[in-house]
Formats: sequence, C-alpha cells, structure tokens
Amino acid sequence: MKGLVLAGGTGSRLRPLTYTGAKQLIPVGNRPILFYALDALVEAGIYDIGVIIGETGDEVRRAVGDGSQFGAKVTYLPQSAPLGLAHAVRVARDFLENEPFLMFLGDNLLRGGLTGLADRYRGGNYAASILLTEVDDPSQFGVAVLENDRVVRLVEKPANPPSHWALVGAYCFSPVIHEAVDTLKPSWRGEYEITDAIQQLIDWGMAVDAARVEGWWKDTGRPEDVLEANRLILEDLATRVAGVVDSESQISGRVVVEENAQVLRSVVRGPVIIAASTVIEDSYVGPYTSIGPQVRISRTEIENSVVLAESVIEDIPVRIDQSLIGRGVTVRGTKRRPQGLRLVLGDHSRIDV
Ligand code: DAU
Repeated sequence: MKGLVLAGGTGSRLRPLTYTGAKQLIPVGNRPILFYALDALVEAGIYDIGVIIGETGDEVRRAVGDGSQFGAKVTYLPQSAPLGLAHAVRVARDFLENEPFLMFLGDNLLRGGLTGLADRYRGGNYAASILLTEVDDPSQFGVAVLENDRVVRLVEKPANPPSHWALVGAYCFSPVIHEAVDTLKPSWRGEYEITDAIQQLIDWGMAVDAARVEGWWKDTGRPEDVLEANRLILEDLATRVAGVVDSESQISGRVVVEENAQVLRSVVRGPVIIAASTVIEDSYVGPYTSIGPQVRISRTEIENSVVLAESVIEDIPVRIDQSLIGRGVTVRGTKRRPQGLRLVLGDHSRIDV
C-alpha cells in the first residue's frame, strides 16, 4: 500500500502565520504537524509516500527531505492549484500506479494513528475504508450516514448534517477510486471533492467501510485548533532536560529543555517544551506551552501558548495566555512615558489587549 499526504492548499484561516509558511509545518509540541502524519503512515507499515505540495512546496521539501528521517521514501507531487482533495488524487495518479493507498490530510492529527484504518482496509474487500468520528457540529466537515459498518451516503459540509459522523481526512482506497474521480464535476465551492468520489463508489454498489477514530482527532485549520492540538500533544510529553536549568529556577511537571537551551531564574510548570538554543530568563512559563528554537523570553509570564522560532518576548507587564506567536516576532514591553501600545502588525494579525 502507498501513502498520499496532502500538504498543499492555502491555509487562509491561519493567516498571517501562513503567508510565508505552509500550515502543515506549524509546530505543535515543537514538531511540524505534518511530521506526525508521516510517522503515523510509517507506523501503519506504509513507506512509499507521495506528498502533494502547492505554493509552499519548497518549505515542505526542505523540512521533510527525502523522508529518510521518518524511515520513508518521499516523492513530491506538485499541484498547480488547490482544486480539491480529489484533484490531488488525480495529480498523484502516476505515482500511485495500480496500488491501493492511504490518503491523509497533512494538517490533521490523530492520537490513535493510522494503523487501525490500514488494517481494517487490508482485512476486508472494500473499495474504500474511511475514518470517522462523532462531532457536535459536523456542518464544517464531510458527513457520513452509516448502516452498521457500511457507509451508505456522504455529503460535504452540509448545512443540515444527516448524522454526527464526520470524515476526519484519512481514507484507504482501492485503485477504482481513480475511475470515480474521473466522473467528478466541481462542487458548489469550486473543488473536486473526494467526498463526491466516494459517493460515486457507493452509487456503483461498491463497499465503503466505516472505521472509527480511537483517541482524539484534531483538524488544525484555525489558530484555536493549533493551540488545542499543542495541548493534546503535550499531554504525552516525557521529561527530558538536556539544556541548562540554573539553581535559581524551579521546574515542575513534565518539561523538556532541549540542548543548549537555558532556563535562568525562572519558573517552568509543565507540560512545557523549550527548544534548542532558547533562553528563558526571569520569567514564568506555564502549562501547555511550546517554545521554539532560538527564542528569548525575558521578564515575562506565558502559558497555554505556542511560540515559533527566533522570536523575542521581553518585559511584558501582563501574562500572555492562549497565544500563537509566529517566527521572528518581537513583543516588547516599554517603560517609557507616555505608556501606550506601539504596534507594527502585519495584515490579518490578531491581538486582544
Ligand atoms: O479535516 C477533515 C475534512 O477535510 C473532511 O471532513 C472533509 O470532508 C474534507 O473535504 C476536508 O475538508 P477541508 O475543507 O477542511 O479541507 P482543506 O481545504 O482544509 O484541506 C485539507 C488539507 O489538504 C490541507 O492540509 C490542505 C490540503 N489540500 C487541500 C486542497 C483543497 C491540498 O493539498 N490540495 C488541495 O487541493
């Protein structure tokens, strides 16, 4: 079985973070979301993996390389524009040859991995196995209607969802899916929907199997989802201190301090991960915070937050909470009078003061 990971698209709901970067590379627990997807495929015994890339393709290539860091062989498949998940399958057709494949969305996270889905598909005789989970408001997802373990109907982002079973963006397909993709017309949102291709399989009388998510699932489309995903990932953190923690600092709970990181005269309450070459001084870092590499945090309190690489945060008079701070950002308190806010913010920035 081959793997197909989707890492194209625009990431418009995560701007401004995604103006310059791929949304699939936003880190949670200091690791790009996409890396967890590649790990999950390898864990499911899938090593030959195609990665769909779009306008942020160069950045994805740099981060993932040839896939050997995951124990996989990665082939990049450029998609001219994000015309839909089924369009991505069409782009991947030569790579996929006549093999079954597992497709996974590069901005989704699954605590229970992909092994259960792959094993169900391998153990049955299905045109497709799709992974589902029950959600309160399924209207922003693909929605499935089930009869026992069979999918009998599918609809993409319905205003009136016919069930609570949402498609979580993990699918196993037999090669017959290519014939279904060939029949598609663009949907109301102008995309070639994989949901419609699966419906076509059902209309042809083929068996579509429903697998259920074990553990949690998170689609990281919006900033609040990234923070929640970070929280979920940090739940599994194991303590490791490779960097320096001075005698005036206090560390409690599960905390990772990577190589060359320094925690000086500070309080760190886990779960917290502090990346390599970052300095935390005279500060408080509270639970569910991931701080990226080469960051400096001075005289500041922060918790429930994600800070990307090379940012500087100093002298902030109030606690920073539930914040997502991009690369190379400077946030600095000032003691000069008159006190007020001095802001240099990019388009689509969001601050709550
Ligand atoms: O997250 C689960 C949902 O994912 C499912 O419930 C829906 O049925 C499915 O259509 C999909 O909906 P989204 O609207 O959330 O998909 P999104 O446009 O966010 O794209 C998902 C990933 O695939 C994202 O990492 C970008 C990538 N992508 C997307 C498109 C449309 C591509 O690589 N190429 C594309 O053409």
